Amino acid sequence: MDVNDAVRSRLTVREYKPDPIPDEVVHKLLEAGRLAPSSQNLQPWHFVVVRDGETIRRLGELATQGPFVGDAPLAIAIATDDTPRAQLDAGRALQQMELVAWEEGMGTCFVGIRQAEQNQAIKELLGIPDHLVLLTVLPFGYRLNADMGRFGRRNRKSLSEVAHVERFGEAYATIDG
Ligand SMILES: Cc1cc2nc3c(=O)[nH]c(=O)nc-3n(C[C@H](O)[C@H](O)[C@H](O)COP(=O)(O)O)c2cc1C
Repeated sequence: MDVNDAVRSRLTVREYKPDPIPDEVVHKLLEAGRLAPSSQNLQPWHFVVVRDGETIRRLGELATQGPFVGDAPLAIAIATDDTPRAQLDAGRALQQMELVAWEEGMGTCFVGIRQAEQNQAIKELLGIPDHLVLLTVLPFGYRLNADMGRFGRRNRKSLSEVAHVERFGEAYATIDG
Protein backbone atom coordinates (compact mmCIF):
# COMPACT_ATOMS: atom_id res chain seq x y z
CA MET A 1 0.00 0.00 0.00
CA ASP A 2 1.51 3.35 -0.88
CA VAL A 3 1.35 6.24 1.54
CA ASN A 4 -1.34 8.12 -0.35
CA ASP A 5 -3.56 5.02 -0.48
CA ALA A 6 -3.09 4.52 3.25
CA VAL A 7 -3.90 8.15 4.01
CA ARG A 8 -6.99 8.14 1.80
CA SER A 9 -8.43 4.82 2.93
CA ARG A 10 -7.64 4.71 6.68
CA LEU A 11 -10.59 4.78 9.03
CA THR A 12 -10.90 4.56 12.78
CA VAL A 13 -11.63 0.96 13.76
CA ARG A 14 -13.53 0.09 16.93
CA GLU A 15 -14.18 -3.64 16.40
CA TYR A 16 -11.48 -6.23 15.99
CA LYS A 17 -10.97 -9.87 15.23
CA PRO A 18 -9.80 -11.70 18.34
CA ASP A 19 -6.76 -13.12 16.50
CA PRO A 20 -3.50 -12.45 18.33
CA ILE A 21 -1.05 -10.00 16.77
CA PRO A 22 2.28 -11.65 15.86
CA ASP A 23 5.42 -10.39 17.62
CA GLU A 24 6.91 -9.09 14.38
CA VAL A 25 3.83 -6.97 13.73
CA VAL A 26 3.91 -5.53 17.25
CA HIS A 27 7.56 -4.75 16.60
CA LYS A 28 6.66 -2.96 13.35
CA LEU A 29 4.09 -0.81 15.15
CA LEU A 30 6.58 0.16 17.83
CA GLU A 31 9.23 0.96 15.24
CA ALA A 32 6.75 3.17 13.38
CA GLY A 33 6.33 5.16 16.59
CA ARG A 34 9.99 5.20 17.51
CA LEU A 35 11.03 6.55 14.11
CA ALA A 36 8.65 9.51 14.17
CA PRO A 37 10.07 13.03 14.05
CA SER A 38 9.89 15.14 17.18
CA SER A 39 10.66 18.67 18.30
CA GLN A 40 14.41 18.96 18.99
CA ASN A 41 14.49 15.19 18.42
CA LEU A 42 13.52 14.80 22.09
CA GLN A 43 11.43 11.67 21.38
CA PRO A 44 9.31 12.31 24.47
CA TRP A 45 7.16 9.18 24.10
CA HIS A 46 6.83 5.90 25.96
CA PHE A 47 4.87 2.94 24.59
CA VAL A 48 3.43 0.28 26.92
CA VAL A 49 2.49 -2.88 25.03
CA VAL A 50 -0.37 -4.78 26.66
CA ARG A 51 -1.44 -8.24 25.54
CA ASP A 52 -2.51 -9.80 28.83
CA GLY A 53 -6.24 -10.50 28.54
CA GLU A 54 -7.09 -9.50 32.09
CA THR A 55 -5.21 -6.20 31.86
CA ILE A 56 -6.89 -5.41 28.54
CA ARG A 57 -10.29 -6.21 30.01
CA ARG A 58 -9.58 -3.81 32.88
CA LEU A 59 -8.40 -1.12 30.43
CA GLY A 60 -11.75 -1.47 28.66
CA GLU A 61 -13.54 -0.79 31.94
CA LEU A 62 -11.44 2.26 32.71
CA ALA A 63 -11.41 3.75 29.20
CA THR A 64 -14.93 5.11 29.26
CA GLN A 65 -14.43 6.93 25.92
CA GLY A 66 -13.46 3.65 24.29
CA PRO A 67 -14.75 0.57 26.12
CA PHE A 68 -14.05 -1.47 22.98
CA VAL A 69 -10.40 -1.43 24.10
CA GLY A 70 -11.44 -4.35 26.29
CA ASP A 71 -12.18 -6.52 23.23
CA ALA A 72 -8.91 -5.90 21.39
CA PRO A 73 -6.12 -8.48 21.31
CA LEU A 74 -3.50 -5.73 21.78
CA ALA A 75 -3.37 -2.31 23.35
CA ILE A 76 -0.53 0.17 23.33
CA ALA A 77 -0.69 2.94 25.89
CA ILE A 78 1.20 6.09 24.99
CA ALA A 79 2.62 8.28 27.71
CA THR A 80 4.79 11.34 27.25
CA ASP A 81 7.31 13.35 29.13
CA ASP A 82 5.73 16.47 30.58
CA THR A 83 7.33 18.86 28.07
CA PRO A 84 5.74 21.58 25.88
CA ARG A 85 5.54 19.80 22.51
CA ALA A 86 5.32 16.23 23.74
CA GLN A 87 1.68 15.70 22.80
CA LEU A 88 2.25 17.00 19.30
CA ASP A 89 5.25 14.70 18.93
CA ALA A 90 3.36 11.71 20.30
CA GLY A 91 0.53 12.48 17.89
CA ARG A 92 2.95 12.10 15.02
CA ALA A 93 4.27 8.83 16.45
CA LEU A 94 0.81 7.35 16.88
CA GLN A 95 -0.28 8.44 13.41
CA GLN A 96 2.65 6.49 11.96
CA MET A 97 1.63 3.48 14.05
CA GLU A 98 -1.93 3.84 12.84
CA LEU A 99 -0.93 3.90 9.17
CA VAL A 100 1.36 0.90 9.53
CA ALA A 101 -1.43 -0.97 11.32
CA TRP A 102 -3.77 -0.10 8.48
CA GLU A 103 -1.34 -1.48 5.92
CA GLU A 104 -1.15 -4.70 7.95
CA GLY A 105 -4.93 -5.16 7.71
CA MET A 106 -5.42 -3.92 11.25
CA GLY A 107 -7.09 -0.90 12.77
CA THR A 108 -7.03 1.23 15.85
CA CYS A 109 -8.76 4.16 17.51
CA PHE A 110 -7.36 7.03 19.49
CA VAL A 111 -9.03 6.62 22.87
CA GLY A 112 -8.70 9.69 25.03
CA ILE A 113 -8.37 9.21 28.78
CA ARG A 114 -9.48 12.64 29.87
CA GLN A 115 -11.09 12.01 33.25
CA ALA A 116 -8.42 12.46 35.92
CA GLU A 117 -9.58 9.47 37.97
CA GLN A 118 -9.50 7.02 35.06
CA ASN A 119 -6.24 8.45 33.81
CA GLN A 120 -4.64 7.86 37.20
CA ALA A 121 -6.12 4.37 37.49
CA ILE A 122 -4.70 3.37 34.09
CA LYS A 123 -1.31 4.79 35.00
CA GLU A 124 -1.35 2.68 38.16
CA LEU A 125 -2.57 -0.43 36.33
CA LEU A 126 0.29 -0.14 33.84
CA GLY A 127 2.92 1.13 36.29
CA ILE A 128 3.38 4.40 34.39
CA PRO A 129 5.37 6.80 36.61
CA ASP A 130 3.61 9.87 37.98
CA HIS A 131 5.86 12.36 36.19
CA LEU A 132 4.67 11.11 32.78
CA VAL A 133 1.44 12.14 31.04
CA LEU A 134 -0.86 9.37 29.80
CA LEU A 135 -2.12 10.51 26.40
CA THR A 136 -4.08 7.58 25.01
CA VAL A 137 -4.62 3.87 24.95
CA LEU A 138 -4.66 2.55 21.40
CA PRO A 139 -6.47 -0.76 20.88
CA PHE A 140 -5.17 -2.74 17.90
CA GLY A 141 -6.60 -5.71 16.07
CA TYR A 142 -7.24 -7.10 12.63
CA ARG A 143 -10.20 -5.49 10.89
CA LEU A 144 -13.40 -7.54 10.73
CA ASN A 145 -13.80 -6.37 7.17
CA ALA A 146 -10.46 -6.13 5.39
CA ASP A 147 -12.07 -4.04 2.63
CA MET A 148 -13.14 -1.36 5.07
CA GLY A 149 -12.03 2.01 3.75
CA ARG A 150 -11.57 0.72 0.22
CA PHE A 151 -14.15 3.08 -1.17
CA GLY A 152 -12.60 6.03 0.58
CA ARG A 153 -15.61 7.12 2.65
CA ARG A 154 -14.65 10.42 4.18
CA ASN A 155 -16.60 12.68 6.40
CA ARG A 156 -14.53 15.80 6.09
CA LYS A 157 -14.87 19.50 5.42
CA SER A 158 -14.21 20.32 1.78
CA LEU A 159 -10.85 21.70 0.73
CA SER A 160 -12.42 25.03 -0.11
CA GLU A 161 -13.47 25.35 3.54
CA VAL A 162 -10.04 24.69 4.97
CA ALA A 163 -7.51 25.65 2.29
CA HIS A 164 -6.66 29.19 1.22
CA VAL A 165 -4.63 30.44 -1.72
CA GLU A 166 -1.99 33.14 -1.20
CA ARG A 167 -4.04 34.87 1.50
CA PHE A 168 -6.44 33.65 4.15
CA GLY A 169 -10.00 33.95 2.86
CA GLU A 170 -9.19 33.23 -0.78
CA ALA A 171 -10.71 29.78 -0.98
CA TYR A 172 -8.82 27.08 -2.76
CA ALA A 173 -10.74 26.19 -5.94
CA THR A 174 -11.22 22.52 -5.37
CA ILE A 175 -11.14 19.94 -8.12
CA ASP A 176 -12.88 17.22 -6.12
CA GLY A 177 -15.38 19.07 -3.99
C1 LIG B 1 -7.20 13.35 19.36
C2 LIG B 1 -8.30 12.33 19.05
C3 LIG B 1 -9.09 11.86 20.07
C4 LIG B 1 -10.06 10.89 19.81
N1 LIG B 1 -10.76 10.35 20.87
C5 LIG B 1 -11.62 9.35 20.63
C6 LIG B 1 -12.23 8.67 21.71
O1 LIG B 1 -11.95 8.95 22.88
N2 LIG B 1 -13.11 7.67 21.44
C7 LIG B 1 -13.40 7.30 20.16
O2 LIG B 1 -14.21 6.38 19.98
N3 LIG B 1 -12.82 7.92 19.10
C8 LIG B 1 -11.93 8.90 19.29
N4 LIG B 1 -11.29 9.49 18.23
C9 LIG B 1 -11.56 9.06 16.85
C10 LIG B 1 -12.33 10.13 16.05
O3 LIG B 1 -13.67 10.16 16.46
C11 LIG B 1 -12.19 9.83 14.54
O4 LIG B 1 -10.84 9.91 14.17
C12 LIG B 1 -13.00 10.83 13.70
O5 LIG B 1 -14.38 10.67 13.93
C13 LIG B 1 -12.74 10.68 12.21
O6 LIG B 1 -13.03 9.35 11.78
P1 LIG B 1 -11.94 8.50 10.99
O7 LIG B 1 -10.70 8.39 11.89
O8 LIG B 1 -12.59 7.14 10.76
O9 LIG B 1 -11.61 9.19 9.72
C14 LIG B 1 -10.30 10.44 18.48
C15 LIG B 1 -9.48 10.95 17.44
C16 LIG B 1 -8.50 11.86 17.72
C17 LIG B 1 -7.61 12.34 16.59
